[in-house]
Amino acid sequence: MRVLGIETTCDETAAAIVSIERSGEAKILSNEVLSQIAAHAAFGGVVPEIAARAHVEAIDRIVARAFETAGLKPSDIDAVAAAAGPGLVGGVMVGLTTAKAIALVTGRPFIAVNHLEAHALTARLTDDLAFPYLLLLVSGGHTQLLAVRGVGDYLKLGGTIDDAVGEAFDKIAKMLGLAYPGGPSVEREAEKGDPERFDFPRPMAGRPNPDFSLSGLKTAVRLVAERIAPLSDRDVADLCASFQAAVVDVMVERTRAGLRACRTAGITPSALVVAGGVAANQPIRRGLTRLATEAGLPMIAPPMALCGDNGAMIAWAGLERLRLGMVDDMSALARPRWPLDELRPQDTPKPAPAMPEPAGQDLAART
Ligand code: KG4
Ligand code: ZN
Repeated sequence: MRVLGIETTCDETAAAIVSIERSGEAKILSNEVLSQIAAHAAFGGVVPEIAARAHVEAIDRIVARAFETAGLKPSDIDAVAAAAGPGLVGGVMVGLTTAKAIALVTGRPFIAVNHLEAHALTARLTDDLAFPYLLLLVSGGHTQLLAVRGVGDYLKLGGTIDDAVGEAFDKIAKMLGLAYPGGPSVEREAEKGDPERFDFPRPMAGRPNPDFSLSGLKTAVRLVAERIAPLSDRDVADLCASFQAAVVDVMVERTRAGLRACRTAGITPSALVVAGGVAANQPIRRGLTRLATEAGLPMIAPPMALCGDNGAMIAWAGLERLRLGMVDDMSALARPRWPLDELRPQDTPKPAPAMPEPAGQDLAART
């Protein structure tokens, strides 16, 4: 069984082909990702119009390359999947329309994939993990703890009440004059800095509900930066290191609360899984590994190439759905917002609202 997956929800134009053998072995046959970072860097963030146009320009080439690398032609695939949201609606439409066109021409089923579900299921592509597991989903637009009980079956245990963790990294980077995207820049600076120089708060510590809050931490960094300005290189490195140390503590402590919430809900997770762009952060991975060891669970983080947005995760989510007969029809529309806990296996594909929600699109779009 082979599935083509297309991803265009944010600033990566990506296409991949993933297969599963009769033996159950999953393989990534190709995984083409074109990052638009250079096009957005000057603006310090993703500009939706630039992103949509860049997706239009690149999509045919990236899909063709995904077939070439895999050594396959369109008639060799069994289904076509595309991320239908949540994300920047102009970009999502590009991938979705391309996937529908390929599905129509080849006569193969079409699958509208939730981008967050694709991040959530990546651990089953790479590690053949059994349900249920506890997932910490950390990206530019989302910070959530979820019990992943099955395909389309997610129990949200907690989430952020303000900023997403990737967003906090990006804002700190911008504030300190570091390059976009902020996460990798802050992590690099932090390696040179002293994590104990500034004692930043660990918001929500001790709360039983596994929710997150990051805006107070971000404000604390800003206030210190303003107080000690002008900033030397050492100051910037120390601010990054102290901020990142606080984020690691928050992720670990809140995820520990998530493990407790799992138990309360009668769920025994097979593993602790981290996914999303921020899962690339090494200190966060190390902190979560310590926590998993303490809880007697394996910790699964995607390989670096699958942390950020990619087509393989969309193809894999499509394949998981295809095997369960969960395919969609051509009426599936691009969805700027699409919470995971609204996705149930018994759901028939819901028609998306004809008009995207006008408010908060920027935030909703960050997946
Ligand atoms: O899932 P993702 O690729 O896409 C969207 O959110 O759309 O996540 C991107 C986010 C950005 O906020 C970026 O700064 C963050 O992931 N990120 C990191 C690291 N690499 C990417 N944050 C912390 N440390 C990193 N190494
Ligand atoms: Zn993402």
